[in-house]
Amino acid sequence: MHRQFETEYGYFTDDGSEYIITTPTTPKPWINVISNGEYGLTFSQSGGGFSWLIHSQFNRITRWHQDLIRDNWGKYLYIRDEQTGALWNPGRLPTGNDPDFFECHHGFGYSRLITEKNDIRTEFTIFVPLDDSLEIWDLKVRNLSGNDRCISITTYFEWCLGAAADHHREFHKNFIETTFSSDIQGITANKRLWEIQKSHRGHWNTAYPYTGFHTVNRPPDGFETDKERFLGNYGSLSYPGALMDSRGLQGSSGKWNDPIGSLQIRLELAPNTEERLHFSLGLAEDVEQVSELLYRYQTDEHVNESLRQVKRHWESKLNGLTIRTPDKAMDLLVNKWLKYQAISGRLYGRAAYYQQSGAYGFRDQLQDSQIYLTSEPEETARQIRLHARHQLTNGTVLHWWHPITEEGIETQMTDDLLWLPFILLSYLDETNDHTFLNEKEPYYDDSDVEESIYQHCTKAIEVALDRFSSRGLPLIGAGDWNDGLSAVGLEMKGESIWLGHFLYLILRRFSKLAGLRNESQRGERYSRRAEELAKALQAHGWDGEWYLRATKDSGEPVGSKANSAGRIYLNPQTWAVISESGPGDRQWQAMQSVKRELMREIGPLLLFPAYERPDEYIGYLSRYAPGTRENGGLYTHAATWAIQAFAMLGDIGGAYRVFQQISPLHNGMTPDRYKGEPYVTPGNIDGPQSERAGNGAWTWYTGSASWLVKVLVDWILGIRAVEGGLLIAPCIPPDWEEFGITRRFRGTVYNIHFTNPENATSGISSITLNGGRIDSEVVPEVQEEECEVEVVMGKV
Ligand code: GLC
Repeated sequence: MHRQFETEYGYFTDDGSEYIITTPTTPKPWINVISNGEYGLTFSQSGGGFSWLIHSQFNRITRWHQDLIRDNWGKYLYIRDEQTGALWNPGRLPTGNDPDFFECHHGFGYSRLITEKNDIRTEFTIFVPLDDSLEIWDLKVRNLSGNDRCISITTYFEWCLGAAADHHREFHKNFIETTFSSDIQGITANKRLWEIQKSHRGHWNTAYPYTGFHTVNRPPDGFETDKERFLGNYGSLSYPGALMDSRGLQGSSGKWNDPIGSLQIRLELAPNTEERLHFSLGLAEDVEQVSELLYRYQTDEHVNESLRQVKRHWESKLNGLTIRTPDKAMDLLVNKWLKYQAISGRLYGRAAYYQQSGAYGFRDQLQDSQIYLTSEPEETARQIRLHARHQLTNGTVLHWWHPITEEGIETQMTDDLLWLPFILLSYLDETNDHTFLNEKEPYYDDSDVEESIYQHCTKAIEVALDRFSSRGLPLIGAGDWNDGLSAVGLEMKGESIWLGHFLYLILRRFSKLAGLRNESQRGERYSRRAEELAKALQAHGWDGEWYLRATKDSGEPVGSKANSAGRIYLNPQTWAVISESGPGDRQWQAMQSVKRELMREIGPLLLFPAYERPDEYIGYLSRYAPGTRENGGLYTHAATWAIQAFAMLGDIGGAYRVFQQISPLHNGMTPDRYKGEPYVTPGNIDGPQSERAGNGAWTWYTGSASWLVKVLVDWILGIRAVEGGLLIAPCIPPDWEEFGITRRFRGTVYNIHFTNPENATSGISSITLNGGRIDSEVVPEVQEEECEVEVVMGKV
């Protein structure tokens, strides 16, 4: 097998569908986020991680505490040689024993640890079936030696059953009861309290509505549910007392102990034979439902089929868009891993090691849902509808909200609400489905009022138009896109230049849309406001060589050469280009300033210089260590916009360089410096003012994966959905002689093939559709299942 992008820690398989970790001590935990949209889990190469249903914070099934140094919370399997007493695990945790052979395969919807130690080979696959609220731990144990072996397998995890992180254990354990049942060959756990649920009988007065279960597909030889009896008083997970006892687990269940789940199976293995077991962990309504569920996972064939379904699911999710370019890294990221990150990590799971929230961010999941545009736009539509339901009748929106309780926070952030019309416009470009605009959704604060998606969007725009300064610029309030600029405009006087660009783009496009919907007055008003806004941006937003970021309530500029910290910010420069709100020479100059002032080896910094001292009139951004996260780090989400901006200016060198700088695959080639997983984007990379410059962190984070796919496909390959069809306008490195893309578009699969005989970076000399030449750069819709497009680049 050809190993791609190999380092001392691992590599991608030939077809990119797995990343295989070969050295267990990766520079940081390298995890998978596995989810079916409701049930989810994180799983690290060491065997660390946790599980949840629907909400990783409110409905955590197993305990976990954030410690990325030790990665010391997980759901473990112990392997014990009953003849010698040797004890180890498939991952390093928790015994820390290093195996003779180790591989951790992270795939789409599953992970697998393959380990050899003491002449025993284990293959441990963990996955979440598509339609049930449980996870399967499929374990194969093979005796590689020439002797008969007696091996015991023991599982271990701690029940959480409710809100994480359950640090007040002495309180919470008083509500949990465990029961062993030979009918289900395992343990159930119930909790009499779910602290997040309000009760009409006062607080802390509602039962957790699920029954937790942990089972195995044969009668266990032992079990334990009491942490103290398992570990021993003052015991340790590396050498649990119960596993030092040759009698095996003695089995106790009941009430109000510190509850764990542990099952034990003893295996007698003749030389060169293998046994297979599967354990389950999950939530059901009651014990009867557990039996029903388990019936579907009883045999090896059931488990095989269930994993096959998961693989098919991901294949079909990832297959809607495929690019074939000379850049293997770009192909791997776009075709597989970025899509997986956006869907499994951000839309399904909304959790990973650096952040567990479970909530929906109003702007976050809307942007993440762009990942569906090229393959299943109906999923983007679903997301738009969900967010519309979290808008208030006055047009404002919740900054984020929690599923299950539906609680959220109202916000003075001024951009959140505008992502609704913005993503809607992308959906319309993709589908041209104007009937969607008439679909009705209620409001968060009044479910009786139902209005169309179009009305939801215009309401949001109207709120933004009301929040203007006397100079004609939008207010920044408690932040805009940049959560950390949380105190710039609390008095609702400070202005935002970035928001001005963003709103300008939306106004221009919505004025046209309003016209199409016979709302000509609104259309004209939006158009007028857009022009006034553009003027104000040029009059008050230009700092001489670049655009300001904002002004504070006091009027003091932010992101100006007059500032010693935060002299220049990235977003107002990139969005000046993206929104085309100002003259071309300023767009060009702004991006030249980005190159000169912000561009570093790691890519374009979010701002520079970082704030060295907290500024309470900036907000918590200035409290981060200099060079980290929004305070002068490389912020991947924002850096993707630099790719688009450079490409829009025809600067392929700039655009392509930024891609390579932020690509986790490239950064992953120096893993000890970079540290993050090579297969998903990080939220941020530490900037030059950080002591850990170059470290990637907050991996699996929101925003960046879907945007990276979008800017690469739309602006580098240059295939963009527009009203009339697919616009072809590539901006590629000159040495790309040939490339192609297969994508769905309005019900048809488009196979588009490019040749570039003259080593052009842009320009089209001819386009043929199913063999017939077309005169436009827009390939129209066709009424066929599939079509072939040939593009020859070069001079017209
Ligand atoms: C985080 C937030 C996102 C915000 C960004 C910049 O990624 O989830 O909403 O835009 O930070 O502050």
